[in-house]
Amino acid sequence: MIVLGIESSCDETAAAVLEDGRRVRSSIVASQDAIHAPYGGVVPELASRRHLEVIVPVVERALAEAGVRLPDLDGIAVTNGPGLVGSLLVGCSLAKALAWVNRTPLVGVNHLEGHIYAASLTDDPPEHPFLALVVSGGHTALYHAEAPLVYRLVGETRDDAAGEAFDKVAKLLDLGFPGGPQIEKVARGGSPNAIPLPMAQMSDQTLDFSFSGLKTAVSLHVKRNRPLAERDVADIAASFQAAAVKMLVRKTSKAARQLGATRLVLTGGVAANTALREGLAAAAAEQGLRLHVPPRSLCTDNAAMIAAAGTARLLAGERAGMDLNAIADLPLESVGKGVVPVIERSEAPSGRSHA
Ligand code: KG4
Ligand code: ZN
Repeated sequence: MIVLGIESSCDETAAAVLEDGRRVRSSIVASQDAIHAPYGGVVPELASRRHLEVIVPVVERALAEAGVRLPDLDGIAVTNGPGLVGSLLVGCSLAKALAWVNRTPLVGVNHLEGHIYAASLTDDPPEHPFLALVVSGGHTALYHAEAPLVYRLVGETRDDAAGEAFDKVAKLLDLGFPGGPQIEKVARGGSPNAIPLPMAQMSDQTLDFSFSGLKTAVSLHVKRNRPLAERDVADIAASFQAAAVKMLVRKTSKAARQLGATRLVLTGGVAANTALREGLAAAAAEQGLRLHVPPRSLCTDNAAMIAAAGTARLLAGERAGMDLNAIADLPLESVGKGVVPVIERSEAPSGRSHA
């Protein structure tokens, strides 16, 4: 089964061809970092315009590298949320057009489900049930994947996403965009205990995360200690990273204990962070949990993960029609409650707005 995945929810334009839900035949990711870097964050309008410019060549390259043509595809999977609506629309519109012209089954994929499915593209895919920590630029959440395509949200951030906090702290330290990889690099030269930073003052009864207090503490520290020497920047980056990792690991361990989970998945852009990978690996070993972490290239946004989730949904009989829409705040939880919605493939354009 050969599935084309298309991803354009934020600032990466990506396409991938996946065989039988496991074998990545090609995975192309066109980053927009250079476009957004001068602004220190993603500018939605610039993102959607850039997607529009590059999405066709990106898909063409993914098909060419995989050695397949459009009629060879058994399915097309596209991210239809959550994300920037203008960006999502570009991927959705192209996916619908390709599916329509070639009469290819189409399915919409939740971006967060895609991140979770990245773990299925390793040599050691997780069996259900498992607990998944999804840490990205837009989301930080713990999902209990109870059965294939069935998710229960067990904890989430009350304010900033983890990646957003990394990006904001990097901005405070003038480290450039995107901030996560910069913080990680600079932190190597600093001490994680150099600056006392508060953990969130949140009752430990909850499985929710909070990063805004941490970010504010860094901001105050930077203001009080300006100008910062290179060593100070390294110490702040290392201390912030350690505190953020501690929060993520602590809540995940707690959730695993409460749920009696035996398997853990770590995924999303921030899962590329070595301190987090190592911190969670140590906690998992201590608790006797089996940890599944995708390779870094599959943690950050890509379309192979979308094709993987899409393959599972197509095999479950799910089909999207030509009315598939981009939904900026598409929740994952509602996706599966044990029942997979089956939407027949449209045989004719619905006449409804595709926007
Ligand atoms: O999943 P992703 O590629 O896009 C979204 O769905 O948001 O995640 C991007 C986020 C950014 O905030 C970026 O700074 C962060 O992941 N990130 C990292 C690292 N690599 C990417 N954060 C910490 N350490 C890293 N090595
Ligand atoms: Zn993502």
